[in-house]
Amino acid sequence: MADLRSRLLQHASTLAIGGIFVLAPPGARAACVFYQPWNCPSTSPDVRATYFAGQMTTAEKLLVVDGKLGLAFTPYLKKPDGALGSGGFVPGIARLNLPALQETDAGLGVADPVDLGTGIPMRGSAGYATALPSGPALAASFDPAMAFTAGAMIGDEASRQGFNVMLAGAMNLTRDPRGGRTFEYAGEDPLLAGTISGQLIRGVQSRHVISTMKHYAVNAQETGRTVVNASMASQALRESDLLSFEIALNIGAPGSVMCSYNKVNGAYACGSDYLLNQVLKQDWHYQGYVMSDWGAVHAATDANGGLDQESGDLADAANGGPFFTTQLSAALAAGTVPAARLTDMVRRILRSEFTAGIVDTPPIIRPLDAVHDIQVAQTVEAAGIVLLKNDRNLLPLSKAARRIVVIGSNANNGVLSGGGSSQVWPLGGPAQPIDPSHAFPHPRIWDPSAPLSAIGGKLAGGSVSFVSGASPSAAAAAAQGADAAIVFVNQWAAEGIDMASLALPLDPISGVNQDQLVSAVAAVNPNTIVVIESGGPVLMPWLAAVRGVVEAWYPGSGGGPAIASVLFGDSDAQGRLPMTFPANEAQLPRPVVDHGSSAGAAFTVNYDIEGTDIGYRWYFARKSVPLFPFGFGLSYTHFAYANLKLSSGANLTADFDVTNTGSRAGSDVPQLYLSANPGPAQPPRLLGFARVSLNAGATQHVTLAVDNRLLSRWSDTAHGFVRPAGSFSVMLSTSAATPVIAGSTTLSAVSLGP
Ligand code: BGC
Repeated sequence: MADLRSRLLQHASTLAIGGIFVLAPPGARAACVFYQPWNCPSTSPDVRATYFAGQMTTAEKLLVVDGKLGLAFTPYLKKPDGALGSGGFVPGIARLNLPALQETDAGLGVADPVDLGTGIPMRGSAGYATALPSGPALAASFDPAMAFTAGAMIGDEASRQGFNVMLAGAMNLTRDPRGGRTFEYAGEDPLLAGTISGQLIRGVQSRHVISTMKHYAVNAQETGRTVVNASMASQALRESDLLSFEIALNIGAPGSVMCSYNKVNGAYACGSDYLLNQVLKQDWHYQGYVMSDWGAVHAATDANGGLDQESGDLADAANGGPFFTTQLSAALAAGTVPAARLTDMVRRILRSEFTAGIVDTPPIIRPLDAVHDIQVAQTVEAAGIVLLKNDRNLLPLSKAARRIVVIGSNANNGVLSGGGSSQVWPLGGPAQPIDPSHAFPHPRIWDPSAPLSAIGGKLAGGSVSFVSGASPSAAAAAAQGADAAIVFVNQWAAEGIDMASLALPLDPISGVNQDQLVSAVAAVNPNTIVVIESGGPVLMPWLAAVRGVVEAWYPGSGGGPAIASVLFGDSDAQGRLPMTFPANEAQLPRPVVDHGSSAGAAFTVNYDIEGTDIGYRWYFARKSVPLFPFGFGLSYTHFAYANLKLSSGANLTADFDVTNTGSRAGSDVPQLYLSANPGPAQPPRLLGFARVSLNAGATQHVTLAVDNRLLSRWSDTAHGFVRPAGSFSVMLSTSAATPVIAGSTTLSAVSLGP
């Protein structure tokens, strides 16, 4: 038997690939004897990747590192052969049975890019998919398990449409709420954004689809995104934007990291030795590959800076590219990029392919599980809706209401979504004829999940009517005497464009001034509720005049029913703000969005203005009072916290009890903040959170284990996070500005590697 086994092993180790006899990778295990060892799923991805990279010709290696656009631009640009029609495509290598990489956007669902020539989505209705609510809604759930489920759902849809790489995991911290992509991200706090994005990435990859983590790093505004230089001292960088990516990496282990368009401290992110080699690959021991954003490469030698794959290579034409084709080949010949670097680039890409399972478990094109997936989107939205105001408990509405008037924002048809590369064409098709302009980031799409019918479905016998809101006076006339007037308002945000202001814009369909619409209705109906569909914070000049305010974000494919379930209390109001809502733009670190002197001219944004003190820390440091603080959100019940106990020593653990003291079931998000530590006084910092769902009267014990990086400061001298021994004060709170119980403990010194 032993003899047979060793003969089989010997045989397996000399099988041929494409006629070439090769040695089996040394790590190939006994279970692989009936497979070619390089194809054996139980052989480690490292061993398999090193082995394959060692077998490839230079021409084959160049194919793997050169990503193509996967879309068409009729009549100028043809879709590459074999591409499904999406953002990116990397041809496979048939000789080695290596699959093509079919790359699809993005983190809110499977996108379908528009053929810029025809204005028609590339895959037509075959590319329709389930739209998750926008990123802040998922983050507002403060629920890591929900983020995993959401990621698994979109990863599954990507796989069922034939994709094996998903350009998900978008998570730049909200340094400016006017940012056009705030709606794709996960808020302003490094722990929350890193945790939610890391779990989303894990979820995507659980479906044998590589996920990215993007846009690395400090892609904090859209204005001038390809020319802007983000300037920030290394301590602040490490404690904020980089820490959030580090946390997501620890949790999600993304197969790929997408470097961003901008420069960071003078170097383009996609060629930054500091960001890619020193921080990502050395300090964080990242083993996957770095792909560029589309049009973010500037030289073939960016490979030496740590870039492993050029994406959508023609997108780099404006910079003098494509670079990872003949230019990289020439650089290899000239020795300016070492051959070993190319092999390492390929090894990293293949390692992620084997780790995610896209070689062993390739996607199978099949119908989506639409009913399940829309339910997931609806559950996420219900968990992410934030109740901001509920004067004298107007909400939840009674199902016995006689007459409800729904006003504005196309609420009879659907719900708004954000624009750009993350745009999902929703199952069922857009609810509203799309814009005549299809120039990127258009069109503006409304998901077909109408709040109006869902609200009507909740009423026992009363009536619900709809008024477009095009005329404030007609809306007010209709609202007069109704049991409640629900005014929907919207703010469209999109990739590539920052908002000049946080004021609600004119409604894109009716053209009405939405603030005037709300005020007109509130003036006649004392039971006015405003439902906001926005990418992030908006200003609310009418706040004092209305009784209810609901932040619904971009609600996604299950948006209508989710909104109705919160308005009528079938779901508790559960979301908590993942970003501060400012009272006005003057409160922001940069009251006006920085821009260059002329279009295309380089400029620098100084992020040291706030540095580590991003979001709620900034407001605390400046003693300014926002409209609504980070972490805030009302519930339909009440919670009490008790018995806070803190460990001492090297690691902080917080134990406490949460009790639902109200009369109905509900969910709460207790939040633990560092309030003071040894050394110079600092603003609060989120140390941990839990999402707790309890029946009336029930109590749950919660234990939070705190990541020591959050209790430390980055030290360039020590090249790591360092904490002196001493006394640390914490607050158990319901928001960054609402402490409930204070505690303190003594912690010993720690010195953590990077
Ligand atoms: C965006 C990325 C996206 C890529 C491919 C870029 O413009 O910044 O987030 O994944 O396009 O569509």
